[in-house]
Amino acid sequence: MCGIVGYFGKRPAKDFLIEGLKRLEYRGYDSAGVAFLEKGAQRGSKASKRWKIKAIKALGKVAALQMKMEGVFVSGIGIAHTRWATHGKPSERNAHPHIDCKGLVAVVHNGIIENHRELKEVLEKRGHKFRSETDTEVIAHLLEEEMSPSGEKRKVGFEEAFVKTLKQLRGAYGIVAIATEDPEIMLAARFSSPLVLGIGSGEMFIASDVSALVGDVKRVVYLDDDEIAVIRRDGYVVKTLSSRKREKEELTLEWDKTVAEHSGYAHFMLKEIFDQPKSFADALRGRLILEEGMAQLGGLSAVEKRLRSINRIVIVSCGTSYHSGLVGEYMFEEYAGIPTEVEMASEFRYRKPLLDRKTAVIAISQSGETADTLAAIREAKEKGALVLGIVNVVGSTIARETDAGVYCHAGPEISVASTKAFTSQLAILSLLTLYLGRQRGLSLVMGKRIAKELEQIPKYMERVLAQAKDIKKLAKKYAKQAHYLYLGRKYNFPNALEGALKIKEIAYAPAQGYPTGEMKHGPIALIDSSVVTVMIMPKDSVYEKNVSGMEEILARGGKILAIATEGDTALAKKATDVIFIPKTLEMLSPLLAVIPLQLFAYYVAVERGYDIDKPRNLAKSVTVE
Ligand code: F6R
Repeated sequence: MCGIVGYFGKRPAKDFLIEGLKRLEYRGYDSAGVAFLEKGAQRGSKASKRWKIKAIKALGKVAALQMKMEGVFVSGIGIAHTRWATHGKPSERNAHPHIDCKGLVAVVHNGIIENHRELKEVLEKRGHKFRSETDTEVIAHLLEEEMSPSGEKRKVGFEEAFVKTLKQLRGAYGIVAIATEDPEIMLAARFSSPLVLGIGSGEMFIASDVSALVGDVKRVVYLDDDEIAVIRRDGYVVKTLSSRKREKEELTLEWDKTVAEHSGYAHFMLKEIFDQPKSFADALRGRLILEEGMAQLGGLSAVEKRLRSINRIVIVSCGTSYHSGLVGEYMFEEYAGIPTEVEMASEFRYRKPLLDRKTAVIAISQSGETADTLAAIREAKEKGALVLGIVNVVGSTIARETDAGVYCHAGPEISVASTKAFTSQLAILSLLTLYLGRQRGLSLVMGKRIAKELEQIPKYMERVLAQAKDIKKLAKKYAKQAHYLYLGRKYNFPNALEGALKIKEIAYAPAQGYPTGEMKHGPIALIDSSVVTVMIMPKDSVYEKNVSGMEEILARGGKILAIATEGDTALAKKATDVIFIPKTLEMLSPLLAVIPLQLFAYYVAVERGYDIDKPRNLAKSVTVE
């Protein structure tokens, strides 16, 4: 997905622009570019040096752009972009920034301008010449048209022209622009595509994703829809489209530079899998009250009274976050006694969901920017439901738009394939189960047992991670499988879906996840000696049922890679291969069982030689529909 960075300050903008783009590389892109203001050559003795725009673009990696910029002096004001082609193929011509006919403005844009064809037609009639096939280029020409109408004298200044331009756009946008006419400001605007300002000392930063700012700033401000930011070297003002000033909350960015580095691991995904004992402990930190079998969740204190009266929960989320929601459904129903449904946000938004004030809608999202999840919570708010968030990125749009919520504190998740966010979401869902359960009928004894066991999870996770070498060998053995089947039941059915999703995403392997009991209703037809079925079958309340499912597969010549509870020698004898996880409470077993699934997918992808941190066609945060 496209990425934006911008810098305005005392240093050459190049340093941050290239570094910022590199930090956004994980989002996926096909070309990159920068534009900056530079003082033009002196023409004639009296003529003052005029500002002009210089743009440099490259197809492929940011490193290629960096090479092209070697030796180029860049002023203290510049914008840059990584493009993920939507309108027009990947090429230098289509790469951002885009510039108008007269070279007055340079623009970078994330999102889609839906009415770009109509706008282009009108602009072409007025004599504008387009150089790219992108929707973005209309923004540059509209700005030119407002600032310097064809054949007429300059009408309005940069800021006014910017607002007039925005009012003509339909669709989604995060835009940053610079102009030769006004080198003292950089302008930015947001509608449905995130932008965050970074506040430095005597320098300002902007990015479409906060991870680009990690290490450079400690204070950030998120823009909301229909806001524009007027950025100067030493500060900023946020305004509405009707030019009213908006007071914005400045947030502290907790993440430091080291969390966004590989730290000796071959890939971010592997590092993040190994981060889990720590990220899980971070999610629990200061929130568990062991002696009361309870959780304290400061983010929910404002809605505590209302939460006591809810009689239904609807969880909305996508992908891996949807899978953690499915585990949450089992937890809430079993221990808090609250009827719960889980909906894919992309479907929820187009239904006519029946919600009322007694329903709590919980959005789960790592990025806090997923367009479908955002649309779902907006719908839920309109219908009067209490809207809560379980979000990782502090200050993200979903975090801001929910009534209350709990942060995951997993740190930045850079790998496109989500791993540590999943287990952190499960940590929060477990805490929420205690919180809601103890408000209702959950006994002190059971509450204490869950709380105590939650504390043990990081230690158990270490035991699973210690088997990485064995899992690598199994991945090698099964790396050439044409198709993978994942089965699990009850709390580990969502893990079957998650295991299949991981191997699809990074190893491009056809894979399906099913509840074990569903096998006989169709998928069993797939079984023969060429198929390995990964079965998640810890010693829990559905263990015997899983064993029956396994027998049916073995009887048809299928192979079984079992995830089993330590000490289950009987199962180890029957299964083709086995990976053990420590014994824990059934509701917490997905936290341990998911780790071998993540590692297995990772090592299969390594065997197949794929670019694990940047899987094809995928974006880290899906901010468009
Ligand atoms: C899977 C994955 C995606 C995300 C999904 C939701 O590895 O990363 O399926 O889980 O796009 O993203 P968030 O959690 O940011 O809303």
